[in-house]
Amino acid sequence: MHIDIISTVPELLDSPLSHSIMQRARDKNLLSIAVHDLRPFGLGRHNSVDDYQFGGGAGMVMRCEPLAALIDELREQRDYDEIIYLTPDGERYTQRRANRLSLLGNLLLICGHYKGIDERIREEYVTLEISIGDYVLSGGELAAAVVVDSIGRILPGVIGDETSALTDTFQDDLLAPPVYTRPAEWRGREVPDVLRSGNTGAIEEWREEQALQRTQERRPDLLGE
Ligand code: ADE
Repeated sequence: MHIDIISTVPELLDSPLSHSIMQRARDKNLLSIAVHDLRPFGLGRHNSVDDYQFGGGAGMVMRCEPLAALIDELREQRDYDEIIYLTPDGERYTQRRANRLSLLGNLLLICGHYKGIDERIREEYVTLEISIGDYVLSGGELAAAVVVDSIGRILPGVIGDETSALTDTFQDDLLAPPVYTRPAEWRGREVPDVLRSGNTGAIEEWREEQALQRTQERRPDLLGE
């Protein structure tokens, strides 16, 4: 999969996408990511990428021309399956959407800043708008990092243990069951016997029960309750 990201602060994306599982995905050539600085496409002496909003009001709006110039240049190089704008008024991001996006080949992510991007860029180019939650970030970069990470880690071959991503919280609309590692007793708290029994059937059953119970207690909305 290839992901292009448009940003006015590309440095914000360096670290989250260059470590751990994301770096492994890139090293294995399962994922390539290119972050494109919008600033050189800015207008005038100061490479301006934003301007006051029509109608007045606080906050700047990202201008059409620089964004269009960069998007057009990128579109000459590849066809995108989705052009995604990260915005708090987008569709709420879920594991289901991450799964669907992970099946695609080329994505273009647009990070907004200030009051967001001119509505006409959304109309002209954007095919999907994503919000990572009901709060406002200072820009789309952290949201883009969340989206790329959630897609990258489920690409086939990225996580060594193939079943690991399948047993994640949300993968089947359930929260994950509790997990334990050594020591078997810590500060008087013991790991449940069943997990040390070696009985894989019983362990599987215990995990399913725990997942269901945890989901009922914490996120009944996932069960449609
Ligand atoms: N940009 C600012 N806030 C955001 C959010 N919650 N989700 C996606 N992009 C954003």
